[in-house]
Amino acid sequence: MKDSVMQQVLNKQKTSRPPIWFMRQAGRVLPSYLALREKYDFKMMMQTPELAAQVTLLPYHDLGVDALILFNDILVIPEALGMPLEFTNKGPVFPKPLSSHPEEISRLTFQHEKLQHVYNAIDQIIASKPAHLPLIGFCGAPFTVFCYMVQGVSTGHSFTNAIKMLYQSPALAANILEKITLLSIEYAVKQIEHGVDAFQLFESHAGLLPANIYHEIMLPYALRILDAVKAAGGKTIFFPKGLGHGINSLSSKNIDFLGLDWQFSIDSMRKIVAPEIGLQGNLDPRLLLADQATIAKHLEEFIAFGRDNYNWIFNLGHGLIPEIPFENVKFTVDWLKNANWQRDNF
Ligand code: CP3
Repeated sequence: MKDSVMQQVLNKQKTSRPPIWFMRQAGRVLPSYLALREKYDFKMMMQTPELAAQVTLLPYHDLGVDALILFNDILVIPEALGMPLEFTNKGPVFPKPLSSHPEEISRLTFQHEKLQHVYNAIDQIIASKPAHLPLIGFCGAPFTVFCYMVQGVSTGHSFTNAIKMLYQSPALAANILEKITLLSIEYAVKQIEHGVDAFQLFESHAGLLPANIYHEIMLPYALRILDAVKAAGGKTIFFPKGLGHGINSLSSKNIDFLGLDWQFSIDSMRKIVAPEIGLQGNLDPRLLLADQATIAKHLEEFIAFGRDNYNWIFNLGHGLIPEIPFENVKFTVDWLKNANWQRDNF
């Protein structure tokens, strides 16, 4: 069977149009997802392989996206380090966030069996998806996961307790980051072994730190995970949201694609990122709250970039938000698929 556009672009082949998928595509923007959520809670859906596979496939059936992303969450890693995790209506909560007591940190142990449901879900997805459709696996980068573990909740998104610990108790913070990294490496490699085609590392909170501190302290942890995925034969996508011009020093040794947020135009980012690294992004998700004529006007701006750049996966600059009307997401997929990309030889 002919590879899909996504698989071809992952393999650095030329295609007639860019592949399309969305961060948070398997979520509350889909009426079919909301219907399932009436029956099951989020954790139940995530932990039951048949349900996780069903939800993973919803955006393919309902939107026609070119790639699947495993239905799961980045916070299963802290849970597998022994931290109880609850998903409430206001988002995920760790009832007992980590404090600076060394005993608390030494109590974090590797509970590998808590990740088994993820591997079972991957097996189930691969058994039920169309063969040509690539599956993206993922985990959170250590700094982003650390933020949730120390802060306990995601409200406010400033993570002051977590960042204070980094400055005040760097050795303790390093101890936590090391545990997250070791478990994430094992988790990422297992996802590749179970057959995911590409692996995205979500560093959603990179922009919370001064860029030099991010580079010096946090990037090395993230790169160890990306290196391990490459060594296991997987393609890597790194999404360091908010890193800005700090992306110019990243290397194609461990990064195949770089996910961009909406802060800078994709054109200007192309000029500063190493040429062998492909790009992914970067439409502002909130544009999809506007009317369709406005959406089309902004999509049009990607045509010139897409004409000249084959090494590009269309996506948003961050995840879909629940307020976005489903029809606008579908409109975007259809618009992009039917556009004349003016590419040579197609
Ligand atoms: O469709 C997909 O992208 C695949 C599944 C996926 C989820 N979470 C499902 C989810 C992925 C890739 C994630 C990653 C994730 N989870 C990140 C990194 C990406 C990002 O958005 O920055 C982060 C920071 C988390 C932690 C998390 N999980 C938060 C902050 C929340 C609450 C906010 C929200 O959107 O509700 C979640 C819950 C969550 N994860 C939902 C989904 C579909 C909503 C759960 C529900 O149905 O109520």
